[in-house]
Amino acid sequence: MAPATPATARSLVLRAERRFKRARLYFGHGTDNARDEAVFLVFHALGLPFDCGDAVLDSPRTAAEAAEVEALVSARIRTRRPAAYLTGRMWFAGHEFEVNDDVLVPRSPIAELILGRFQPWAAATEVHRILDIGTGSGCIGIAAALAFPAATVDATDISAEALKVAARNITRHRLEARLQLHLVDLFPPPVTGAYDLILANPPYVPESERADLPEEYLHEPALALFAADQGLALIRRIFARAASRLTAQGLLVLDAGGTWPEVEAAFPELTILWVELQHGGDGIGIIGRSDLARLPLQ
Ligand SMILES: C[S@@+](CC[C@H](N)C(=O)[O-])C[C@H]1O[C@@H](n2cnc3c(N)ncnc32)[C@H](O)[C@@H]1O
Repeated sequence: MAPATPATARSLVLRAERRFKRARLYFGHGTDNARDEAVFLVFHALGLPFDCGDAVLDSPRTAAEAAEVEALVSARIRTRRPAAYLTGRMWFAGHEFEVNDDVLVPRSPIAELILGRFQPWAAATEVHRILDIGTGSGCIGIAAALAFPAATVDATDISAEALKVAARNITRHRLEARLQLHLVDLFPPPVTGAYDLILANPPYVPESERADLPEEYLHEPALALFAADQGLALIRRIFARAASRLTAQGLLVLDAGGTWPEVEAAFPELTILWVELQHGGDGIGIIGRSDLARLPLQ
């Protein structure tokens, strides 16, 4: 009998991909297909960079390495936990973040706008102060701080556990001097001054959808996903108070995800620009301070 061919990164990825497809996993936490999910996990287990060349992809792996891959791949299938919770890390706007199941897996399409420095909507040179509401892992506030190196950022959350993760990510990206965390309900106290940009990816999934969600989502904190009032509860409160916290030319950038049509219907008097994204996703709305100022305080 011929000796078994040793596994390579390529063969391990292809095998994991086939198993993920057979197991009918759900992909919505940073990847959207079985191949990318397999690459994410196999490369993590082997400690490979995503841009390793063909020679590395096709070189033989030890039995111990193959066993590492097997452990991760089986855990993904058995537990249905998002891959980022198994590896403890995720990329957002080109930066690496620590994640655990106290925080949402970073995936907001706001990343695309951060990388483009909110052009053409924001006067980039005028962005001095930024607020990130519901910061979770800190990904949006941190990526914004890195995109605007002269700006200061406040980031809020009501989850003390999430803020511990955010604090570690702030240290990782050496932003302690420019990024301040606040354990508060939505907005920090007004003493922080007016913001040029308010960024928010609040919970917006209607409670009624909980039972229909793929199992992967149920590993994320409920506080990060669900909102009362058909998903609109927090968005209403952000809209009601945002104008009073923005500079005259300031903008609110909201990730309303799949709830965006309900937001549009609930606020017919508001001019919301729903951005056409180049890299996929929808539900990102941009609203100017003057429009928000016309809404009644709630
Ligand atoms: C959808 S997650 C977004 C996390 C992160 N910004 C991201 O994009 O990955 C929503 C976050 O809002 C936080 N949150 C929920 N209710 C809040 C409130 N009333 N005030 C501040 N943060 C809140 C949750 O704990 C969670 O971290």
